[in-house]
Formats: sequence, structure tokens, C-alpha cells
Amino acid sequence: MKDISASVASYGVVPVVVLNDPAEARPLAKALMNGGLPVAEVTFRTDAAEESIRIISEEFPAMLVGAGTVLTTEQVDRAVAAGAKFIVCPGFDPEIVDYCIGKDIPIFPGCTTASEVAWGVKRGLKNLKFFPAEQCGGVATIKALCAAYVGVKFMPTGGIGPKNLETYLSCDKILCCGGSWMVKGDLIRAGKFDEIERLTKEAVEMAKSIRG
Ligand code: 3PG
Repeated sequence: MKDISASVASYGVVPVVVLNDPAEARPLAKALMNGGLPVAEVTFRTDAAEESIRIISEEFPAMLVGAGTVLTTEQVDRAVAAGAKFIVCPGFDPEIVDYCIGKDIPIFPGCTTASEVAWGVKRGLKNLKFFPAEQCGGVATIKALCAAYVGVKFMPTGGIGPKNLETYLSCDKILCCGGSWMVKGDLIRAGKFDEIERLTKEAVEMAKSIRG
């Protein structure tokens, strides 16, 4: 399977974006690029996701754009046709996981229990999502899971922000952290893309100072 883990690990942080209008995609992508974070997970929680991924992928080829909150194989197809380079699922849906593996599409399925991690490992996956991170025990749970499954790394999302980023990124079992703190819905809706760029720069600087 194509491996994008080195790219997301090098960014340290993956913005998790909810867009209500594809017209928001262009200024959002520009703010992330200017902020030094050329990566985004655009979630299929809204109808704007597919077209937003298409705009980002066509107009910002240097950006690594993926699809999040993917709940069906039909959404996988739509996301990939629009230009998504990776798929993120909140949970472990064997049908979606096997579909992506069969099509060589990088996938991060959500795994928060030993059983779910075992299903991923059995399929050869080394990079898994951990969601909702804070509610599921955060780094302590991840370390406990990795004691048994040594080759696995996690992309935690849910409840991560400037206050706890260091706790996560300083653990070598964390590939990168996902989060929405620099791309909050109210900032996007208000067109505050300068603020998004500022928060993005801040996140990049934090990630660099933690990981070097
Ligand atoms: C989500 O569920 O939207 C993502 O996991 C991001 O969570 P966050 O908004 O707590 O960063």
C-alpha cells in the first residue's frame, strides 16, 4: 500500500476540517499552506466535502489532502475520485478497510481497543487512528496498546490542542496528531482565514519545538 506515513509524521499535526461550503476550500487551503501545514483531512460530515477535496487537490497540488469521517465504500470512491490521497474512518469498519487495502488506498481506521488493533495488524496496517483520543485514555492507552502491538503507531484525534499537544507528540508511538483547533468552524464561517493562518503557524512551531 502507498505509504504517506512519513509525510504526516513530518508535519506532526493534521488539521481536521469541516467545510459547509466548497467556496471555503480555497481560502482555507491557502491559510494552511501559508501557515506551513500543507495537509488536511476534510471530513465527510458535510455535503461540501467532495467538492472541497476536488478544489484543494486541483488547485493546491502541493497539499496532501485526505478524506475523514468516511463511513461507506461509496464515500471512499467519491473521495478518491475527487483527489483524496488518504482515507480516515472514526472506527474500524472491516468492509471499508479491506476495500481500501484492495485498492491500494492509504487508510487510517479508528482503533481504540486491543481487538481493533489486532484486526488492523492482521491486515498489515501499521498506522491507525485513535479516536476519540482524550475520552479513550489518550497517550496512556496508546502506550499500553503499543506494549502488545510493538510495530503500530497512532494518529490520535479528539480533544487535542495546544495544551496537550506536547504530551502526545513527545510519545514515539504517535505518528502525528489530528485536530481542529486551528481550523475551528466558527473561524471558517466568519472568514477569519488570517487567524487560521496564525493558529496554523503556532501549531507548526509547537510541533517543531517538541519533535525537533
Ligand atoms: C473530530 O472528531 O472532529 C476530530 O477528531 C477532531 O477533534 P477535535 O475537534 O477535538 O480536535
